[in-house]
Amino acid sequence: MSEVGKPAPRVDGRLKVTGAAVYAADTPVAHCAYAVIVGSHIARGTATVDDRNAQRAPGVMEVVTSANAPRVATAKSGKGPSDRVLQILQDDRVYYADQPIAVVVADTLEHAQSAAALVTARYAAEPALAQLPQALGAAYVPAAKPPTGPVDSTRGDVDAGLHAAAHRVSETYTTPVQTHNPMEPHATIAVWTGDDRLTVYDSTQYVYGVKGKLAATFGLAPDHVRVIDRFVGGAFGSKGSTWSHVVLAALAARVAGRPVKLVLTRAQMFALVGHRPMTVQTLDLGADRNGVLMAMRHRVVSETSQMDEFVEPSAMATRMLYRCDNVETSHRLVRLDVPTPTFTRAPGEASGEFALESALDELAYACDLDPLELRLRNYAERDGDTNEPWSSKELRTCYQRGADAIGWSTRARAPRATRRGDLLVGLGMATATYPARMMPSNAKVRVTGGRATVQLSTAELGTGTYTILTQIAADALGLALDAVTVELGDTALPEAPVAAGSMTTATAGSAVHAACTRARARLDRGETDVTEQARSEDFAGRKGYSCHAHGAAYAEVEVDEELGRARVTKLVGAYACGKIINPRTSRSQLMGGLVWAIGMTLEETTVRDRRTARNATRDLADYHVAVCADVPDIDVIFVDEVDPHVNVLGSKGLGEIGVCGATAAIANAIYHATGRRVRDLPITVDKLMRPT
Ligand code: MOS
Repeated sequence: MSEVGKPAPRVDGRLKVTGAAVYAADTPVAHCAYAVIVGSHIARGTATVDDRNAQRAPGVMEVVTSANAPRVATAKSGKGPSDRVLQILQDDRVYYADQPIAVVVADTLEHAQSAAALVTARYAAEPALAQLPQALGAAYVPAAKPPTGPVDSTRGDVDAGLHAAAHRVSETYTTPVQTHNPMEPHATIAVWTGDDRLTVYDSTQYVYGVKGKLAATFGLAPDHVRVIDRFVGGAFGSKGSTWSHVVLAALAARVAGRPVKLVLTRAQMFALVGHRPMTVQTLDLGADRNGVLMAMRHRVVSETSQMDEFVEPSAMATRMLYRCDNVETSHRLVRLDVPTPTFTRAPGEASGEFALESALDELAYACDLDPLELRLRNYAERDGDTNEPWSSKELRTCYQRGADAIGWSTRARAPRATRRGDLLVGLGMATATYPARMMPSNAKVRVTGGRATVQLSTAELGTGTYTILTQIAADALGLALDAVTVELGDTALPEAPVAAGSMTTATAGSAVHAACTRARARLDRGETDVTEQARSEDFAGRKGYSCHAHGAAYAEVEVDEELGRARVTKLVGAYACGKIINPRTSRSQLMGGLVWAIGMTLEETTVRDRRTARNATRDLADYHVAVCADVPDIDVIFVDEVDPHVNVLGSKGLGEIGVCGATAAIANAIYHATGRRVRDLPITVDKLMRPT
């Protein structure tokens, strides 16, 4: 009997479709007041708040400002890359537009909203810097180190390689500010018991992270803080950090002497919970006359805020994806008067593989080679950065299966060669890769009376975590799926790391597997009530191997040059991600990633006013994401891959690889259709319209 590998329907599906699943803001809490954040109108300077009218408004209990907010600790913990510098009403300094300058607490949401509109401020505004391209001269070496490697890398002699190359590509690519926009807004309910115990219901990928941040900020014993979040309505990295509004909800609850609920508006989610930073990336590639890579240089500049650092590590894949002796990569930052960026689905890989895989497409044309053939000629049999063998790599099969599915062999080499009526048709492809990481995690299982309860604090982000952990536990225990209950999202349960980085299956799954395997051994010896706790350490088998998931993305587009409109008409992704625990939830994950790729390539951009540094796109009417009408049939292909090294399950993550590479596949298809190379995302109408 094996549940792992079967397309089990979601064990929490019924709860979700009936509305019975309780998300953070749904939690019933007695005597709850409502908090609304008032944001700064300026992006840089100081704000002196006038809350007199708001104080007198109906139903208002408190208006918290920097003048009356309790003083709390503001230092970063130094623990983990998701810890952020917060703006929690400790002074009157403004670092970005929409930064919280007051929090209104009232008896109803409507009263709080109405009073919030009455809060004014006297601003001392200073000129604000909103755009990265104009500020590249200020780029500096970041102090923050990306989670997946050093800021810079060098091997061989890139200048010599470029000099000797028969064909070169040297181009600059840009990616815009992208905002996550999960369906569930960020939300926090804060409940104090006395002065020193705090319970928080919070929409988060990391309940233990929120607990640690709140304990440090308020000077509480960690045991006195409990954070609960049973279901998360999408996150994509935006809920990986504890942001200012979480602390503000707790501050407001302390001042009001009542539980407080604080839900961000969609507009506030464009400023208060991070974004993918704008990048400017320069690629220099050189190849010999056979298309064999002789040099690669990838320089990345991304934006960060004035008070904190986040590095979008876009050049990481360039270090390892192709065989090349001469490789140089670097990441630099520019400080703007904007909110701190953060992890956004495939942080670095999504933006970086757009640039890298676009540049390779350009190199293929320069070498007069088929773009797939160019990649095959530069296939890396080991990781050139670490010089380690791959734990597994079925990328060749991905290339082939994807090519077969889209009909690559019938593609005309030349651009502008294929028409369908008035439309130009193009086919493009790209490689996708994402690291297969894992972290230590705890898990606990109790088995009694033929039923098992599994507990750990990882999060269900909508990805299927409850379901795949149920499958893993059922197999390890020799039980049916319906004899296993999984409990997640609560700091009363064993500690798990942030649910991010495509690591949850490897991380939480390995811990559950370990606990259940131990319990099974005791059950087999005749015990009848068994409790086991385990911690999955980094799997020893990984040592000496480079662990990455791989894939190949293929896109067909139709372009109407009169209207400047590009539509994706076919999208194929073939992926090798180790053992697939659940083909149904995995397919959803990869389809979701590919839909993101459509949005990222053709639509998504958070536009800032260049004079005021305020967001002009503040809702889903202006911020366009790919909707059903933009999404063709998507063909997700799983390539069998056995990986005995990566972890005990043999499973690589697949939450992020879908948005990797596929952006370039679409952009490359647009070039093939039109002969126009657009290096600045998103590829909107204005960039494709035929000049008259
Ligand atoms: Mo994901 S961007 O690692 O939450």
